[in-house]
Amino acid sequence: MGKGERVRLETISVPDPGPGEVIVDVQACGVCHTDLHYREGGISDDFPFLLGHEAAGLVSVVGDGVTSVAPGDFVVLNWRAVCGSCRACRKAKPQYCFATRNASQKMTLTDGTALSPALGIGAFVEKSLVAEGQCTPVSAAADPAAVGLLGCGVMAGLGASMLTGNVSRGDSVAVFGCGGVGDAAIVGAKLAGAATIVAVDVDDRKLDWARSFGATHAVNASRVDPVDAVRQATGGFGADVCIEAVGNPATLEQAFFARDFAGTVVQVGVPTPAMRMPDLAMIDFFGRGGALKPSWYGDCVPSRDFPALVELYLQGRLPLDDFVSERIGLDEVEEAFEKMSRGEVLRSVVVL
Ligand SMILES: NC(=O)c1ccc[n+]([C@@H]2O[C@H](COP(=O)([O-])OP(=O)(O)OC[C@H]3O[C@@H](n4cnc5c(N)ncnc54)[C@H](O)[C@@H]3O)[C@@H](O)[C@H]2O)c1
Ligand SMILES: [Zn+2]
Ligand SMILES: [Zn+2]
Repeated sequence: MGKGERVRLETISVPDPGPGEVIVDVQACGVCHTDLHYREGGISDDFPFLLGHEAAGLVSVVGDGVTSVAPGDFVVLNWRAVCGSCRACRKAKPQYCFATRNASQKMTLTDGTALSPALGIGAFVEKSLVAEGQCTPVSAAADPAAVGLLGCGVMAGLGASMLTGNVSRGDSVAVFGCGGVGDAAIVGAKLAGAATIVAVDVDDRKLDWARSFGATHAVNASRVDPVDAVRQATGGFGADVCIEAVGNPATLEQAFFARDFAGTVVQVGVPTPAMRMPDLAMIDFFGRGGALKPSWYGDCVPSRDFPALVELYLQGRLPLDDFVSERIGLDEVEEAFEKMSRGEVLRSVVVL
């Protein structure tokens, strides 16, 4: 796939795993908006990409020195394989690890052209080569299509509320953009005990889903001013935590002003390189207090968070199945992008 082209199904070569590398037989991989950003050249120009990064599967072959997983293990793939020794890890902040591990060898087209794996994974494939630390073993009782979503969007949303936003019991939360990421932020806010959860989107169908995930109020920003609506839903004050899950300066500005004094804005939507910050008066930034916090991957630590969240799922306390809108084949990713753009799905999941 080149810039601006539709995705194509190709035969690829996957090298034997080297030291610290693992081949995973992918069982399921969700279609995330970030894959579409890659296809449109919004993340980098390192075409051709091997897309797909929200995946679960079975470890098939391990390279020398791999000790944490063995063939047959059921794993969720992650794009934060913590190094343990960078300056963030040394400060006991592995959620910011600045030297996350990926496979060092490249998967290639059959003519030898190296592929750039999306988020260092590349999982719209039958077999993917990843680093050992990118594999998090979880309970094999779980449905790969559901728990694979923890590998990116759902974890990013849950963590935006529970980790970056530190939503607490009784808080009010507003979520701007109710796709897979935003709805996961709603679920995270509910799990954390938020009392008021305002869903904001421009699509009524998305708002219905947001309510089913636990939103107490739904606001269609194409019809009403979302800042006013969030204030009305929160006693006139604004929300304690506003989560931007679109990736757009206009919604960031709404999230900024829909927040109560000393509240937190969490930016989990991914902007394109051309987007600029909203033009805010500095006195508004200072005078409103609080915090503006970007959230990479929901500040998760996969080895800590994935197994625990899979347990909640198996106990019926985390509705991951409800994020799976449809199961599709490897050759249907382009159609899945179109359905995502038309707002028809939360997650299309490729199953193998
Ligand atoms: N920070 C991270 O680690 C991380 C991880 C995964 C995805 N993301 C990003 O999160 C964002 C959302 O991903 P997704 O998979 O949920 O995408 P999605 O396309 O499924 O959802 C986006 C939602 O935003 C809504 N929307 C669009 N314009 C809006 C507006 N002006 N006001 C309110 N709502 C609006 C759409 O109707 C849609 O429901 C993307 O930018 C994606 O790249 C970030
Ligand atoms: Zn590190
Ligand atoms: Zn993603």
